[in-house]
Formats: sequence, structure tokens, C-alpha cells
Amino acid sequence: MKSAIIIAGATGDLSHRKLIPALNYLYCRKMIDQETMIIGSGRGELTDEEFRGRFATNCQFSDRLYYHQGLEGIKEYLDGFGEFERVICFLSIPPQAYSSTAAVLAKEGFGEEALIVIEKPFGHNFETASILNSELTESFREEQIYRNDHYLAKETVQNIMVFRFANTIFEAIWNNRYVESILIEGYEELGLEERAAYYDSAGSLRDMIQNHLMQLLCLVTMEPPVNLDAQEISRQKVDILKSLKIDKCSKGQYEGYRLEKGVDPDSTTDTAAEVKARIENFRWSGVPIIMRTAKAASRTETRIVVTFKNIPRLLFNSEGEIAHNRIIITVQPNEGIMLDVAGKVPGINLEIGRSKMNFSLRQSYEGDIPEAYQKLLLDAINGDRTLFVSADETELSWKALEPFLEGGEPFLYRKGKTPFPRD
Ligand code: BG6
Repeated sequence: MKSAIIIAGATGDLSHRKLIPALNYLYCRKMIDQETMIIGSGRGELTDEEFRGRFATNCQFSDRLYYHQGLEGIKEYLDGFGEFERVICFLSIPPQAYSSTAAVLAKEGFGEEALIVIEKPFGHNFETASILNSELTESFREEQIYRNDHYLAKETVQNIMVFRFANTIFEAIWNNRYVESILIEGYEELGLEERAAYYDSAGSLRDMIQNHLMQLLCLVTMEPPVNLDAQEISRQKVDILKSLKIDKCSKGQYEGYRLEKGVDPDSTTDTAAEVKARIENFRWSGVPIIMRTAKAASRTETRIVVTFKNIPRLLFNSEGEIAHNRIIITVQPNEGIMLDVAGKVPGINLEIGRSKMNFSLRQSYEGDIPEAYQKLLLDAINGDRTLFVSADETELSWKALEPFLEGGEPFLYRKGKTPFPRD
């Protein structure tokens, strides 16, 4: 499909680190039309050559890059290159400018057909998210709006639905009769990384839990969709978010955070958070759900741990306990799925130990694992919204967290130390 991709804010960090390399990757492998045109737009005055010179590219991809200063007149400029079957406007700009930029693009003449891709944060709370959503729909229809949560394009995250709905053996035990608890954790060794301007007014609840971790929760707990239509999948996620009740939230801040460049010296922003929740529906009622995140943690790891109830009667080890079965889905860095079961320790005595059945993505497949942005951009070009987030999903996830967003003095934790126990 011959497409034009307009990147508003194309001289920023996201283009440099993710968007242009991902498009270059797709182009080299001929996964996108070889006449795809990428028009970077920014406030500065740049020639096409200067713009091209900002990126390290290959396969003559740089010939596909053009630059247009500002957005005014960009439709006319694009029309000068002929017809495109798909026009995508990627807003790589500060979120405060989403609505006004969408309005400019609509005024330019893109409102009828183009797709518009935006990055999180989608609002700062429920109210601002609803305002943003309704402002965007003044310029574009909901089905033209692609809200990007890059976690949805991670390989293991896409595998969650396949794992659950393409196998017979898990679905029957995927409920409150058998599951004791669900833990979703996303830790990073990295701290603030020069992002104080955004992060200090956001914090970990907004930065990680409201979007990435809640999306993981939806995929792990939603009902099977009737088909794989984006709308149908979203409907199932919405049902989970409607029945999600958060009971408790504790927030932490790493020592030294307030001394970081650009951070308010009295900041109470959370760099770690734990949320205790439940899903009040037939399948999950009574199952504790825990979501945890931390920056400056001891490890970089995102995983989902589903712990099962114990067997009804202990035949072995009757004096002690047999550890619970667990399914651990590791989203990163060692992508895979592990089943933790009891087994006999080899030897003369009947000793029960743990056996780990480990499926490692990297050991099982030789090919490279695609980067999230490669998948997301390809899907946008193909008009597939399955891995993007709907307006309702963003609003409902804000709503569930709303009582916990503001206030509370965070506890302090040491930099380099995960503030929550390892299960
Ligand atoms: C982003 C957050 O959405 O996700 C960052 O704003 C966070 O603070 C990042 O570091 C984590 O993404 P990944 O893919 O590195 O786990």
C-alpha cells in the first residue's frame, strides 16, 4: 500500500530512536511499499538533505525522507507527490499540543481519511483524558485515532492471547476456582533519564500502571473475544476495566530523586507504586490482583505471575507444604513462559522439589524478535487497530486509578533496590 507518513515533531528523540529506524527496517525488508514517503515536520528550517543527514539509514531509505517546515500547507505539498492510499499523521509532539495539532491537520484536509497516531500520556487523569478524546473526535473519527501503547506490540504480550485462546489446557483453570492471585510487575534499573519535565508531574502510577500494566492485566484476564476484530478485543478489555476495583495503593520514591536535574526539591512524585486490586466479575471475583512498578530498581524485568491454588489434599510432604503451581509470563528481558510444577527430586528418598518447564522465545526461534515500533507502524500502515488503545480503555483505566493519583507522601527506597519483595 503506497503510504505517506507525516511525522509531526520529526526532529525529536522518538523519531531518532524509534520511528525512523523502524520504518527503515520495514523498508529494507520490503514489508512496506517501496514508494512510501516519510515527511518530517518540525518548527525549524531544514532542507531535505539536512533532515536526511540526521539519521543513520541503509537500503537507500534516506531517499524516502522529506522535510516540511510546520504543518501549514503540508497537504498541498503532499498532493504534489501524487496519490497515496494511506496517509498517517504521527504526532511525536508534547501531549498538550495533540488537540490543536489534530485540528490543524483536519483543517489542512486530512480529517476525512488520514489516520492519526498519538503516544501516551493520553491525559493526566480521567477528566483530561475525556476532554482530549472529545477534542480529538472534533477533528478525526474514533476509528482514525490510533493510541499507541508500545507494550501491546511486544512479542510476549501478543503471545498472551495466543497462549490463552489457542490452547485447550489453560482456559479451563483460568478462573477464581483455580487461580489464587495474579501479579503484574514492571521494573527498570533506569532512573529518571533527563525526563524530569514530564516525569515529575506524572509519576509511576501514571507512567506505567495506568497504561502498560493495565493493558497486560486486560489481556491476561479478559474473556475470549468472538473474533480478532480490534473493536471486539477492545470490548473485552473494557469489560475488565469496568469491573476493576482498586483497594489500595502505596507509592515510593528512590533516595536522591529530589536531587535529580529538573525535579522539584520537595517533590512527592512516585517512582515506584504498588496497586492492590480485584476484578469483580464471575471469573475473577475473590482473586487478588497486584500491580507493581519501580524505577531505579535492582533489575529490569516485566513479568506476569499467575499463582494457582494448592491441591485439595497433600499426599506428599504432608508435614510441610507443596509450593503452588505458577505460570510466569516474562515480557522482558528473557521473553518466555515458565510453568512451575512440583516433581520428585531424583534419588532414593521421596523428596518433592520444583521443576521448571521453561519456554524461552529466544532459544526456540532463530529469527530476530521485532521491535515494538516496527510492528505498530506496520499495523498502522495496514489500518489494523488491534494493538492500539481505544478511547474507552484510556478513560476507564484512569477512572479506576483516580482516587489514588494525587497525594500521599511516598516511602523512600534505595536506588538500585527493588522496593517490593520478589514472589
Ligand atoms: C514508557 C515510560 O512508556 O515506557 C518510561 O514513559 C518507561 O518511563 C518505558 O521507561 C518502559 O518501556 P520499555 O519498553 O523499556 O519497558
